[in-house]
Amino acid sequence: MKITVVGAGAVGATCADNIARKELAEELVLLDIKEGFAEGKAIDMMQTATLLGFDTKIKGVTNDYSQTAGSTVAVITSGLPRKPGMTREELIGINAGIVKGVAENILKYSPDAIIIVISNPMDTMTYLALKSLGLPKNRIIGMGGTLDSARFKYYLSVALNCNSNDLQGFVIGGHGDTTMIPLTRYATYQSLPVSELLDEATLAKVAADTMVGGATLTGLLGTSAWYAPGAAGAALVEAIVRDEKKLFTCCVALEGEYGQSDICLGVPVIVGKNGWEKIIDYKLNEAEQASFNKSADAVRNMNNVLAE
Ligand code: NAI
Repeated sequence: MKITVVGAGAVGATCADNIARKELAEELVLLDIKEGFAEGKAIDMMQTATLLGFDTKIKGVTNDYSQTAGSTVAVITSGLPRKPGMTREELIGINAGIVKGVAENILKYSPDAIIIVISNPMDTMTYLALKSLGLPKNRIIGMGGTLDSARFKYYLSVALNCNSNDLQGFVIGGHGDTTMIPLTRYATYQSLPVSELLDEATLAKVAADTMVGGATLTGLLGTSAWYAPGAAGAALVEAIVRDEKKLFTCCVALEGEYGQSDICLGVPVIVGKNGWEKIIDYKLNEAEQASFNKSADAVRNMNNVLAE
């Protein structure tokens, strides 16, 4: 099995590192446009193989897509990251050209690959991939809600002072500070609704912290985060290559589900060897559905920028 990660920057390299440590493939190709950069990252990571005890061969290449031939999954992280004060939306123009070109090159050599889009603004980049590549919808997965849900569980674990692995919780909608919707009503700790364990104000703060979780880190780091985004990308790769049929929030094509069509948005899906395999229909109440519709409007406005 071969996996390709495009973009050897902070997120791509971390994703590749996680994939290698988990031995999700025999071969991992890390590709970047910057001369020698992916090669350097790959050699550095390969020099951890005997220390960490993994057997995945990581190969770094500069823009040579022939080396990616026969990949089962390709993760696209190429593009510019956010700078402090920048919104994900401001990245549209630059990253659209990069993501489209990269995806076309990947498919030229790996026509059956499942594509995971991470580059921002991710919802719009996923929609662009869906519209421009002509692939079956299940093979195009946007990674955003997987990360936002992990952040939601982190903030819940802090509020509850508990092990985050005992938490269930999902963030749906767009992957933007104002478009994501932490589904507090469905979040549980050891099967108990968190709404029974935390007061309303604390729960509202958890949701608010989750929504600005990315911006908080951008403020602290001077650029966007990479450990959790990279791990989230690798978790989706793992679910595909191990056919886990596991539940994640992913950005996928909606055709009437959750009341929306002709858009890619974050909803709970089962991920397995065919990509995203099934949308899980959490029943939304009126307020949640209104937030979801508002989120869809905002993402649709961004998608319209693509046509301009
Ligand atoms: P980075 O700047 O560290 O890495 C990006 C890499 O892409 C660079 O090494 C650059 O040389 C490469 N690149 C640019 N154009 C390319 C092309 N045409 N072909 C191949 N490689 C190319 O950025 P970072 O932090 O890794 O972020 C990458 C992207 O992921 C950004 O768009 C960022 O906003 C997004 N992101 C998305 C998240 C999500 O949850 N969906 C979370 C965090 C970041």
